[in-house]
Amino acid sequence: MSIYLDNAATSWPKPETVYQSVDNFMRKVGATPGRGGYRREEEAARIADQVRDTISELFHAPDPTGVAFTMNATQAINMALKGLLRSGDHVITTSIEHNAMWRPLKAMERGGGVVITAIPCAGDGTIQLNDLEAQIRPTTRLIAMLHASNVLGTILPIAEVGAMAKKHGIHFLVDAAQTAGAYPIDMAGMNIDLLAFSGHKGLYGPHGTGGLVVRPGIRLETWIEGGSGVESTPETMPEALPLRLEAGTQNTAGIAGLLAGVAFVQKLGVEQIRDREMTLTSLLIDALCDMPGLTILGPADLTIRTAVVSVIVEGYVPDQLAAVLDQVFDIATRAGLHCAPQAHRTAGTLNSGALRFSPGCFTTEDEIHEAAEALRSIL
Ligand SMILES: Cc1ncc(COP(=O)(O)O)c(C=O)c1O
Repeated sequence: MSIYLDNAATSWPKPETVYQSVDNFMRKVGATPGRGGYRREEEAARIADQVRDTISELFHAPDPTGVAFTMNATQAINMALKGLLRSGDHVITTSIEHNAMWRPLKAMERGGGVVITAIPCAGDGTIQLNDLEAQIRPTTRLIAMLHASNVLGTILPIAEVGAMAKKHGIHFLVDAAQTAGAYPIDMAGMNIDLLAFSGHKGLYGPHGTGGLVVRPGIRLETWIEGGSGVESTPETMPEALPLRLEAGTQNTAGIAGLLAGVAFVQKLGVEQIRDREMTLTSLLIDALCDMPGLTILGPADLTIRTAVVSVIVEGYVPDQLAAVLDQVFDIATRAGLHCAPQAHRTAGTLNSGALRFSPGCFTTEDEIHEAAEALRSIL
């Protein structure tokens, strides 16, 4: 039996309704919102608006028009950073960011005069809030950080950071790739100005879905320009959101699937999904922890962990372990640096990488036991 433990990359399987929703859209709707004005176009627009409504409900965002669709969290982060930061701006981030945050920031440092401070996290990914506050300068424009590490599973205290950002009048961007749908997020209560999310992970949408939620009052420069369906005469993109940030034909089939994915999350409830995933995570950690030479990365405290369990095993190369798990046991895990060399540097695993298990809410207890037993038998 094939076992999929790479939900931190992309969730799989999807709820049945997601497959049906994409299929239905492609066969029966097939039009692009804002382009046409006929009934099927209106239906496509209704679907897109419904997703904006449910997304803003889920994240307690102040205004659904602030939900701009992207292909993934990476595009949303780029859109936020490049739309907001200018030469001379200082940005505070952390030492465990995914390349989706780190690379655009470094590109803007090299070519755009942006100044970066990365707060060093401890080896388990935890952060000291005092260290962060001590780095705030008069030029600090933005605090930009992930909500949870895709390597260590560590959940960062974004409510506290949001309060700090608000106190100092600094914008706050959160990369919620690992937590959207899997951990409660309250943009209003946590003072989050910009929230980047993946649609294809914890929201159970198809590949090529994600978005940026923008708090009203924040004006982003456009990072991509093109057709917006309406207001076509000016040579610049419209001011109004979400049109300003959505140039060109969007992935509306994916967005239709995302609608079903978010509905699934709402029906189950984020708290229930979190409980389920943490039951599985705890089971996995218990099953792995006594294996000879094996170290589990990330915090011991499960209340500040997501369903990501990365391990290193003395004397074994993570890529080889993943290859044997796949080829001999038909178990999909992810080895290497997980597009997050900064996190591995922080954990001391930059040279080796790690083997990552990431269960999802469809994972069963039996699958967890089977995966652990497979690793035990390899060792
Ligand atoms: C913490 C984090 N940020 C950003 C991303 C990028 O997400 P996407 O693949 O949706 O661009 C990932 C993907 O794994 C991630 O784990």
